[in-house]
Amino acid sequence: MTKIRGNPNPRPSALPYTPKVRLPPPPPPPKPPRSKKGIYIASFLFIYATSTYTIYLYRTLLAPPDPSKPLPDQDTDLSSRYNETASTFDDNVSFLETTTGINRLRKKIVGQASGHVLEISCGTGRNCTYYDLGKVRSLVFVDQSAEMVEIAKRKWRLIHPNYPNATFLVQDAAKPLPRDVVPRGGFDTVVQTMGVCSCADPSGVLKRVGGYVKKKSDGEEGGKVLLVEHGRSGWKWVDWVLDRAAGRHAVVHGCWPNRDMGGVFGAAGLKVESVVKRGFGTVWGVVGTLGEGEEVKVGGADDGGVD
Ligand SMILES: C[S@@+](CC[C@H](N)C(=O)[O-])C[C@H]1O[C@@H](n2cnc3c(N)ncnc32)[C@H](O)[C@@H]1O
Repeated sequence: MTKIRGNPNPRPSALPYTPKVRLPPPPPPPKPPRSKKGIYIASFLFIYATSTYTIYLYRTLLAPPDPSKPLPDQDTDLSSRYNETASTFDDNVSFLETTTGINRLRKKIVGQASGHVLEISCGTGRNCTYYDLGKVRSLVFVDQSAEMVEIAKRKWRLIHPNYPNATFLVQDAAKPLPRDVVPRGGFDTVVQTMGVCSCADPSGVLKRVGGYVKKKSDGEEGGKVLLVEHGRSGWKWVDWVLDRAAGRHAVVHGCWPNRDMGGVFGAAGLKVESVVKRGFGTVWGVVGTLGEGEEVKVGGADDGGVD
């Protein structure tokens, strides 16, 4: 009798058919656990910085008023402070404006400017990069601080060396503008960013510039007012902090951070078309119209105006 011996090591290929589906590759070996050292260090630094800053705020800006060092009355005009702080202004606000989204809001609002544009309370020209010069025909920048205007002028010329239609004026925006800077028919856009907090009479200034905005006429849109401003939030605890800090902040910076923006806009006769709010409602980006039906009042006697 013949013995049939089986193969002691049968190979997989010895299957009686060819499998149609390829088997998935084996899973990769598990990764070694990641070190959490970086996360712990970052968290520690964040908590340390936040608590140190909170204690600093509490001891300085938020401390109860010291009767031996009286603070100025709310809304006292301290706008001349900008003459002294002009050279450090950008460094002081840049980080905060970038991290809190204010610069993005500037871009969104100021980027809508078109035609002949008037920017009041222009400061150091922080909006220079946000204008779409494809849409803007001319720009007039106004600020009462010669030191701030000088920085704005230098910045503009550095960023837009070939743009010929930018004019810089040192003057109080509440006073009449020189005739030769006002376009015939008025400005298509008026811009103000962070001006309500610093002007002695913010609604008076807005009312005044409302007179320079192009009027609505048959088939033609009127001019627009674009604002990025900060003030009270409407949240009780935020407003408590703002009120407590306002006097000390104003003495150092010339800015009242607790003004009622809605009240200022209402008193100026601003008609709000759209508003976006940031920072617990303390920062507003506004598109609106001003001065409908009012005449353009300018300084000087002739009846010219630029085209
Ligand atoms: C907080 S800074 C804002 C500057 C700039 N617009 C910005 O967004 O960074 C306020 C500016 O308003 C200016 N200002 C205050 N009152 C003014 C007035 N009545 N006429 C023109 N400028 C004024 C100050 O000189 C200062 O440069």
